This record gives sequence, structure tokens and C-alpha cells, in this order.
Amino acid sequence: MMTSSEIRQAFLDFFKSKDHKIVPSAPIVVKNDPTLMFINSGMAPFKDFFLGNQVPPAKRIADTQKCLRVSGKHNDLEEVGVDTYHHTMFEMLGNWSFGDYFKKDAIAWSWELLTEVYKLDKSKLYVTVFEGDAKEDLAFDQESYDHWKQYVSEDRILRGNKKDNFWEMGESGPCGPCSEIHIDLRDAADIAKTGGAELVNTGHPQVIEIWNNVFMEFNRKADGSLEKLPAQHVDTGMGFERLCVAIQGKKSNYDTDVFSPTITRLEQRSGIKYGTSEKTDIAMRVIADHIRGYFLHNCRWSTTIQFRCRLCDSSHTP
Ligand code: GLY
Repeated sequence: MMTSSEIRQAFLDFFKSKDHKIVPSAPIVVKNDPTLMFINSGMAPFKDFFLGNQVPPAKRIADTQKCLRVSGKHNDLEEVGVDTYHHTMFEMLGNWSFGDYFKKDAIAWSWELLTEVYKLDKSKLYVTVFEGDAKEDLAFDQESYDHWKQYVSEDRILRGNKKDNFWEMGESGPCGPCSEIHIDLRDAADIAKTGGAELVNTGHPQVIEIWNNVFMEFNRKADGSLEKLPAQHVDTGMGFERLCVAIQGKKSNYDTDVFSPTITRLEQRSGIKYGTSEKTDIAMRVIADHIRGYFLHNCRWSTTIQFRCRLCDSSHTP
């Protein structure tokens, strides 16, 4: 079984092989941007590249970015610990094209990485494309639909609305239609009762989004209007912790090796077994989430750094 460190490295190696420059995570606290307090997505540090205000160091970049979703437009705080797949702080694996490749390559590479490198079961994957929005004069994303048809049968290509399939950084800023990849992690018996397509984007804990491919074409201005960006870009965000669940064949982020050493140590310290009561399980997940957030936030990590954890006294890659 691939460890979480191997999963992370495989992502970076894959995009390096596609001529991407690998960069370290940016700090999580945002400076000089009144629209954002914390980095809430992999693309946030690159906002000025999308807007054309700065020139990126390369046209293709990939990284794993520390993100915090506890305020503003993307706020998962109420879900943390209550469910098994949202976090305060999490890692977003991302590949970016700044005016270089667009939908065709982004879609092809996301499929290649998931099915040929990580070897995820194709029959468990669903994709979504933007259905369009008449009020905003935005068309159905036919181009993404047509690219997906080469890899996925049409009953697995679902149409999503503006809420799920038009990604915006905040109230203003770069934005565009997006195409998500979801995975069905349920057992065969449950799948036989209800098809996965029915459960995509319904909040089911085992039918979850793992990767979002955003096609940045617009800037949402402060007055709410959309203006076309000077160039077309790709912004993708894959939830590292969820990807580990899928690859390691687990049911919950907290069962992967990203969190299980912390959960084990919490069991030892508290004398309470994880999995015996919903109330204590939630509490343990919240503690495990916050501890990881604390370490990730405080550690000046590159993608390979290891640190000795004060909680369990073992070495972790954050
Ligand atoms: N920027 C893509 C995402 O956060 O889903």
C-alpha cells in the first residue's frame, strides 16, 4: 500500500514529468490581500498570475499547498470532526497552467494520474461538468464534456450547477467553470442498492469529491460582474487526505496514515478507544485535525521535510 508520503511524491513526480516546475507551499497567512485572511485553496497564492498582474516563474507549476477553510466563502469549520472528510487545515495538491495548456491536457492528465499511476478503479469514478447558468450568461461546458467522453461513459459524466461547478476564490477574484472528479468508496452491497451517480454532491461521506479542475477564464469584480481574463488558465485542487483514503482503501480520512498515528496516541493518552462512541469519535477527530493543523501551520516545510512529533514521538512527513 502506498504511504501518504509516497502518494504526495507521486503527484509531484507525475507533474514534473509533464514539465511542471515544483514549488513549495506558500505561507498560510495571507499578506497584502484585503479579500482573503488565510490561504483557502491551492490557487490563492497565484491569484496575481491569473489576473495578469504578475508574471509566474513558469507557465506550468505544481505543488501541495497548506490551506485553511475556517472563514469566508470557503468555510468547513462546522463539518470538521462531525464528518470524516473535512478539515480546518488540509493539503491541496495542484497543477497550474498560466496561459499554457487548458481543458484537454488537464482532463487527460488527471485521468492518467488517477487510473494509471494511482490505479484507482475506473468503475468507482464519476466526473461533473458545468451545466451553464442563464442569469450569468454562462454556457454549458461542452468542451470538457467532450474531452471526458474519451475516458468515461456518458452515464458517469454528470452536469453540475453554479454552486458546485463554477469555482470562485472569494466574493471577488479569478473564477471559472470547473470539472470535478468524485469517487464512490462504498461497499459492493451498498453500490448495488443505489448507484453512485445518484449520490454525487449529496453530502454522502463515502461518495466524495477528490479533485477539482478549474478552468479560469473570468475575474469576479467587486460589483459582482464577470470580466474575461486576458488569458485562459488551469487551476486544479486535489484533496490530499481524501486521495489517501481512496488509494489506501479506507473509509475515513482519519483511518489513513495521515491521522492514524495521532488517533492511536489519543487512545493511549485518554484510555478511550476510537470507534466506540460517536461523541468521543468526533472529539478525537477534532483534536487530531487541530493538532495536524498546528504542526503544519508552524512548520516551515518543503514537500519532503520530516519532523519529530511531540505527541507520538515518531517521525512524520506533515
Ligand atoms: N481552486 C480549486 C479548488 O479549490 O477546488
